[in-house]
Amino acid sequence: MDKNILRDTTELAKMFCEKYIDGDSAAVDATCGNGHDTLWLAERCRKVYAFDIQKAATVTTEALLAEHGIENVSVICDSHEVMSKYVEEPVNLIMYNLGYLPGGDKSVATASDSTLKALESSLELLAVNGLICVIMYWGHPQGAAERRAVLDWAAGLDKGKYHCVHTDMINQPKCPPEILLVTKKK
Ligand SMILES: C[S@@+](CC[C@H](N)C(=O)[O-])C[C@H]1O[C@@H](n2cnc3c(N)ncnc32)[C@H](O)[C@@H]1O
Repeated sequence: MDKNILRDTTELAKMFCEKYIDGDSAAVDATCGNGHDTLWLAERCRKVYAFDIQKAATVTTEALLAEHGIENVSVICDSHEVMSKYVEEPVNLIMYNLGYLPGGDKSVATASDSTLKALESSLELLAVNGLICVIMYWGHPQGAAERRAVLDWAAGLDKGKYHCVHTDMINQPKCPPEILLVTKKK
């Protein structure tokens, strides 16, 4: 994928996310990977819970955080489906960067079933006026199915309780990444 498109999508997502957090906030990084998003969140929030199912990812994330002297993150090697086992407070932001670990094992990617279960848990954990931000990559078959499942899920949410926004880079070919934003209104 074009690195500039990837960078623009991530920056755009973070621009939205930044509006929902401050130094009192708790946040979840549902897919910590190499730890870049976790670090970004940790520098802005009071507390961050970072999940990844791959030990290699949590080790890399912990090393990155240590390098920056960050101590307000719980790094958890488990599936985001079970996040409510570990997070015992309402959170202001829950971030998903779907797909596989850059530079890692491409066969360990996020998948529709577990992503949908995690999103359902996210709705429960999310504080009123909080944000769920999902970056979706759908240039590969599993990603395409996952994107469809996530968008169908969001389209079915109660319109009185949640507002859902979906971005589309309309001048870019080859399935450019998309962002789904879900805010909780009550
Ligand atoms: C695109 S990467 C995330 C990139 C990361 N946010 C960063 O800043 O480097 C997606 C990550 O999701 C993880 N993952 C896949 N299935 C998961 C699951 N069920 N629960 C938690 N993490 C999962 C993968 O191991 C991979 O590291």
